[in-house]
Amino acid sequence: MNILVTGGTGYIGSHTVVELLNNGFDVHIVDNLSNSSVDVLDSIEKITGKKPAFNKIDLCNYGDVENVISINRFDGIIHFAAYKAVGESVEHPLMYYKNNLVSLMNVLELSDKYGIRNLVFSSSCSVYGEPDYLPVDELAPIKKAVSPYGNTKQIGEEIIHDFIHSNKYKAIALRYFNPIGAHDTALIGELPINKPNNLIPIITQTAIGKNKLSVFGNDYHTPDGTCIRDYIHVVDVAKAHLVAVDRLINGKNKSPFEIFNLGTGNGNSVLEAIQTFEKVAGVPCPYILAPRREGDVEKVFADTSLANRELGWKAELSFEEAIRSAWKWEQHLNG
Ligand code: NAD
Ligand code: WQD
Repeated sequence: MNILVTGGTGYIGSHTVVELLNNGFDVHIVDNLSNSSVDVLDSIEKITGKKPAFNKIDLCNYGDVENVISINRFDGIIHFAAYKAVGESVEHPLMYYKNNLVSLMNVLELSDKYGIRNLVFSSSCSVYGEPDYLPVDELAPIKKAVSPYGNTKQIGEEIIHDFIHSNKYKAIALRYFNPIGAHDTALIGELPINKPNNLIPIITQTAIGKNKLSVFGNDYHTPDGTCIRDYIHVVDVAKAHLVAVDRLINGKNKSPFEIFNLGTGNGNSVLEAIQTFEKVAGVPCPYILAPRREGDVEKVFADTSLANRELGWKAELSFEEAIRSAWKWEQHLNG
């Protein structure tokens, strides 16, 4: 099966490409390298022994997308490409709406035109906001997005939903919780092209002396006062995409648009993340306590039973393994 992976040189995309290649899929990547490096292709080849086809294109350019889709025969598309920095999206909302939604609409329209009607879409647990109940399942109400970025995921899901209603198209949206860590080889991971905003890269950068960690708020209604998230190893996230794309291509889906949570089902606090890091890395991670960060939810973790049952997928790697791999990646970057 030949899969088009948009954003395939990015963090989650590159890990998914590795899993696809290792499992016999052919892969064609398109990416504009706005948040990734072309060198990732060499790393993918080192890990898998195979080099995926690649085009550097901007998915917002209709003609460029058509050039790729019209001359290849793809069985399915995994659409990762998007901007993802929450704070930046508040500063530059139109840049986010344009990039994340125009690219999605181009992919939908052109794949439909050329008869590829299987799409896996990267969504986010941010659609749940502060959930009314935990663990949060896919039936929980969508809350008003706190950022333009989060809104692009909500609108993206709605666009797909509406498009599918009027077509023979099929799609699966995967709502990732907090993907962390890196491939075990430390050849691919999250590239710190922009200053990271996420906890785990800031922890590893702090431990190596490149950053300073502030813990945002210790007065939440949680056991240690810090926020709780469902941190999931990026390799587990990657593996779910194989199952999802295969499900669509082989018509195993139960409805034209399915949505699944991708999490571990466990919640960990910020302080637990720091303690776990110090335990597995054997180095200290100093931090200061700081005020709450605007827009943060107090606690969120996934009910994964739908994905477990329907996809036959379950997160297998532990929080410790994920953090250990993130540290190995940080050391590789600074090697
Ligand atoms: P990433 O930035 O590492 O990867 C995204 C890739 O898309 C990058 O390589 C970038 O260059 C490319 N890209 C962006 N806009 C493009 C365009 N117009 N044309 C072509 N390429 C373009 O991000 P990631 O962490 O791998 O995230 C992948 C997807 O998962 C995104 O849609 C993101 O919103 C979503 N997501 C990520 C997280 C997370 O915490 N990392 C959580 C939930 C959802
Ligand atoms: C985790 C916890 C912070 C940094 C974001 C996006 C979400 C999704 C995943 C894409 C929170 C605390 C963090 C720091 C801290 N991305 N923290 N000090 O906010 O759950 O989700 O990434 O879809 O849409 O919003 O992840 O890693 O930023 O924060 O104390 O320097 O760590 O307050 O409690 P978040 P995060």
